[in-house]
Amino acid sequence: MIERVPTGVPGFDQLIDGGFPRGSTVLLTGKPGTGKSMFALQYLYNGVKLGENGVYVYAESHVETLKEQAKQMGIDLEQLEKEGKIVLLNVPLAKKKFNILYAIEEAKDKVNAKRVVFDSLASFTVNIDLFTIPYAYSGIAASSVTVNVNADPLFRDLDEKEGRPTSSENSKQIHYKSSKPDRLIYLIIETLRNLGTTNLLITFSSDNGKRISTDGISEFISDGIIEAYNELLGAKHARTLSILKMRVTNHSQYIHEFEINDNGITVKPAEELYK
Ligand SMILES: Nc1ncnc2c1ncn2[C@@H]1O[C@H](COP(=O)(O)OP(=O)(O)O)[C@@H](O)[C@H]1O
Ligand SMILES: [Mg+2]
Repeated sequence: MIERVPTGVPGFDQLIDGGFPRGSTVLLTGKPGTGKSMFALQYLYNGVKLGENGVYVYAESHVETLKEQAKQMGIDLEQLEKEGKIVLLNVPLAKKKFNILYAIEEAKDKVNAKRVVFDSLASFTVNIDLFTIPYAYSGIAASSVTVNVNADPLFRDLDEKEGRPTSSENSKQIHYKSSKPDRLIYLIIETLRNLGTTNLLITFSSDNGKRISTDGISEFISDGIIEAYNELLGAKHARTLSILKMRVTNHSQYIHEFEINDNGITVKPAEELYK
């Protein structure tokens, strides 16, 4: 029996056998304004209510915007942070050589998190040249910056064969090239998977919905994909979502309408039509 992690988003969990498979990594995609961040906030907050702490990795504009959005939904992120139930990890787009993999691990350990949200891989991909990954993972000749190997947990357990810099090289970390972001996206997803947490990754669908994500690879690595739409239907936009993939889950094959109000997202019951 597979353990389920309920999102707590009203009307949603019944579409996926009760929740995400525990330990899975699920992609939530859709155009801007389709409710992805609200879904993610509900997922984390409902987790806290069940005793599961969370990390919100935030790479989208400013963290204050997220706090305001949460406040409107009745979620006091600052309070939850103070109580040690949620970590807001703001990915600093202005700071170069930020070790994102280590920062995520550290945030998870800080509150023993069971749920992680990454919002969003898409904005991260755009700024990928700002981030560093360990030399060992680079696979390419490094343009190096000096870091203290012993102080960096990502180097500590490596031997030289695995890419630990020799003392003569001093310590090295590569500055990842924006032309090839796949590897870093892959590493981030792998890092999240290894945390043992149940993860929700947000991305954008691009090419007018023809591509599921902007990076073009996260959809193949993730265990599940939810797509949210906001399409013109007659004289109004209709909010719908569908589940494109959810491993080990007998999931709904239908398009489901949902609404957004001050409380966040509510998925409406399926139409008679579908039965
Ligand atoms: N209180 C509310 N009532 C109705 N709709 C809302 C409310 N708050 C936000 N929205 C809708 O939700 C959208 C924002 O959702 P958000 O989760 O930030 O989208 P995304 O992360 O997909 O870009 C807004 O553009 C607006 O259409
Ligand atoms: Mg958003």
